[in-house]
Amino acid sequence: MRVTGTGHASMRIDTAAGSILCDPWVNPAYFASWFPFPDNSQLDWETLGDVDYLYVSHLHRDHFDAAHLKRYVAKKATVLLPEFPTSEMEDEFRELGFTKFLKTRNEEVVELDGGLKIMIQALTSPTDGPIGDSSLWVEYDGVRLLNQNDARPTDLSVFAELGHVHAHLLQFSGAIWYPMVYELPQSAKTAFGKQKRERQFDRTWRYIDDLKADHVFPIAGPPCFLDDELWQFNDIFDDEGNIFPDQSVFLAEYAKVGGTNGIVLLPGSVAEVTTSGATTTHPQPVEEFFANKVAHLEEMRERKRPIIEAEKASWRHPEVDVLKELKQRIEPLLDESIYLAKGVGGPVRFDLVGYDGDSVESIVVDFPGKQVRPYADEKVRYRFRTERALVEHLLHIGEVDWVNSLFLSCRFSAARIGQYNEFVYAFFKCLSTERLQYAEGWYDEHERAVDAEDITIGGWTVQRRCPHLKADLSRFGIVDGDQLTCQLHGWRFDLPSGRCLTSVGHKIRAHRVGEEPAAAEVPQASQPSS
Ligand code: FES
Repeated sequence: MRVTGTGHASMRIDTAAGSILCDPWVNPAYFASWFPFPDNSQLDWETLGDVDYLYVSHLHRDHFDAAHLKRYVAKKATVLLPEFPTSEMEDEFRELGFTKFLKTRNEEVVELDGGLKIMIQALTSPTDGPIGDSSLWVEYDGVRLLNQNDARPTDLSVFAELGHVHAHLLQFSGAIWYPMVYELPQSAKTAFGKQKRERQFDRTWRYIDDLKADHVFPIAGPPCFLDDELWQFNDIFDDEGNIFPDQSVFLAEYAKVGGTNGIVLLPGSVAEVTTSGATTTHPQPVEEFFANKVAHLEEMRERKRPIIEAEKASWRHPEVDVLKELKQRIEPLLDESIYLAKGVGGPVRFDLVGYDGDSVESIVVDFPGKQVRPYADEKVRYRFRTERALVEHLLHIGEVDWVNSLFLSCRFSAARIGQYNEFVYAFFKCLSTERLQYAEGWYDEHERAVDAEDITIGGWTVQRRCPHLKADLSRFGIVDGDQLTCQLHGWRFDLPSGRCLTSVGHKIRAHRVGEEPAAAEVPQASQPSS
């Protein structure tokens, strides 16, 4: 099996029974904030795009690059579709001219022509990608590969059960706006960033250990930031709080925990993977490339400057009445929303900075009051500050997912009172009836779900499944004193009270081994019915 690195989360897999192109991303994403690094725009995409199968893990724009897919990927390719809850991905592919689809069933192995086998695991919680993320497992001639990219399954057992994996490709770096955009003292940002960076690596080691593949390929990031306004997010300033460590840092950190089987793919690197080993050739020595990272970034910054300028020029739409449009689009969704609106629980304020860089229009999305209105000097839980032009553009194009556009751009700052509130972001990625209904249904189901199984860990009896997204805490939970950390997303819980210290809600059931649980903590399923 041949794996050609094509940048970021992208790769081309070649076997004698067919080729699969995965997640080809070349054009900047999220308001021209993210670019693939190392640069992959010089690859021979005409040839790379001439494939039998196409797989895109999810609709995040650093994976689903519509312009590139349209221009470079052969429309004869069969699209391997994850089983997502909405038809958005298929609809987008059809709009680009693709007509051949293989609609996979979640976690079911499919045998394609010539003995090529694939299996796609689809993750479908509202917090997985933009309503869905996925991983691709491939087997040919005894060689097995898992392209986990940036998906976060609770565990990898479903893949491990299919036989020993030879190549495991997964994310290790950051892909979020936290903590950089928060209006915090620099020392706090550094401390939070450092924690986040450590958690990212811990999670990666855990996945690697779960699968014990012969070879581990760090992929799916980090992106680079070429706009002068965002340049500081590149990990080139010896900042221990930077959440975007690159592949060379991965190799160094992996070595510290005993990892010796890491392989970095530059765009154009080719790994030949067999059941007994892997040989890799690179377009240039990997170490040498990363030793010159700053020079590569500076060269890219100059080369891509016109692209960024052209994008910026397209964002302003002075004809858009932002308050009026937001009212029209968001108020019907607030009316439909039960769980998300309740989860947000208070007003969220947007400060929109005008073209002059000075004037500010403050608008509130009032979740309890179910309306969008001018800010009225009230206390708010969340405040976002961004350029008015960006919101004008989102309204102009009818964007239904502000996470997959505004928030991932990092072109905003944020302040909040209290804990992180996942419902705020879940709502702003569901600005269509279809998405909102799905998210509401998902939370409804999970709110009602009874999670009765307990485990013992670090002297505590706790519910087996994490209250966040159901990670198995016997594998992901770490108890330190009275605190439990779930390593899947790093959420922390105070065990004596059950309180989640990371996000509002999400109480955990826990009591000390040998002590009686508080009455309210006895799982519903084990109580006699009255
Ligand atoms: S599943 Fe997300 S922190 Fe546990």
